[in-house]
Amino acid sequence: MKLTFIGYGKMAEAMIKGLYENYEIEVVGRNQTKLEKIKQSYGVKTAPLENFNIDGKNLILAVKPYVLAEVAGQMEGNANLILSILAGVKIDSLKLHLNSSSFIRVMPNVGASNSASMTTLTGDEKYKNEVIAICNSFGKSLWLGSENEIDIATAVAGSGPAYLAIVAEALADGAVRCGLKREDAQFITAGLFEGMNLLLNHSDPAIIKNSVMSPAGTTAEGCYALEKNGVRQAFMEAVEKAYQKALSLN
Ligand SMILES: NC(=O)c1ccc[n+]([C@@H]2O[C@H](COP(=O)([O-])OP(=O)(O)OC[C@H]3O[C@@H](n4cnc5c(N)ncnc54)[C@H](OP(=O)(O)O)[C@@H]3O)[C@@H](O)[C@H]2O)c1
Repeated sequence: MKLTFIGYGKMAEAMIKGLYENYEIEVVGRNQTKLEKIKQSYGVKTAPLENFNIDGKNLILAVKPYVLAEVAGQMEGNANLILSILAGVKIDSLKLHLNSSSFIRVMPNVGASNSASMTTLTGDEKYKNEVIAICNSFGKSLWLGSENEIDIATAVAGSGPAYLAIVAEALADGAVRCGLKREDAQFITAGLFEGMNLLLNHSDPAIIKNSVMSPAGTTAEGCYALEKNGVRQAFMEAVEKAYQKALSLN
C-alpha cells in the first residue's frame, strides 16, 4: 500500500521511521525546507500541500486538529482511505472536510519514535488488517470497536507518556531529596520502568503491588503515603479530563 502523509511533524516523522523501509511513502506539507529535510532523511517522495490532489490515495492525516479545515481546503479530490491521527476528531467531522471511500482513526503515541508506540485504531473494517499491519511497523496496536473507546484510549496511551514522565521525574526527585545523585536517580528510575514493562506483560498490577508490599515494610509505608495523597484518584481524574477534552474537540 502506498501512503501519503499530510504533515511532517513529530508524530508523522516517528511513524515514517518505522514505515519507510517497507512502504512507499509520500509526504505533503506547506514548507519546502521541511519537506526537503524529510526527503533527505528517509528517501521519501514529497509534494506541496497547495492544490494537492488526493484522488485514490491512502492518506495519513498528521496535522494539528485545529488546522483540519484550513489544510483540507487546500486539497482536492476523493481519497481511497484516510487514516487520521488527529486526537479527538470524529470521523463525522473528517467527512465534513474531506472526501474518501474509507476512514480510520489511528491513535499512536510518542513511543513510535522508538518503534514502541501503543497505537489504538477504529473505523472502516474494510482495511482493518492492512492498517493494523501498518501500525505494527512502529509498535503494537489494538483495534477498538468504537470511536468512544478510541477517545478513552487516547486519554491513556496518547497522553500517558506525559503522565508517566511526571511519575518518573517525581520518583527521581524523591530520591534526590533523600540524597541520591541526580544521574543515579534517573538511571535507577529508567531501569525501574524497563522492568515494569516486562512485569506488566505477565501480571496484573495488583499482584505486582501485593508481591512487593510486605507487612509493616518499607513499601507499605510508601504506598500509604501515595494513597494518603490521593494518587489513585489523581490518575483516574487525569484520564477522565483528557477524555472529556477529546470529546470537546468536534
Ligand atoms: N505528539 C503526540 O504524542 C501525538 C500522539 C497522538 C496523536 N497526535 C496527533 O498528531 C497530530 C500532529 O501532532 P504532532 O505532535 O506531530 O505536531 P507537530 O510536530 O507540531 O506537527 C504539526 C504538523 O501540522 C502542520 N501544520 C500545522 N499548522 C498547519 C497549517 N496551518 N497548514 C498546514 N500544515 C500545518 C505542521 O506543518 P508546519 O511545520 O509547516 O507548520 C506539521 O506538519 C495532531 O493531530 C495530534 O493530535 C500526536
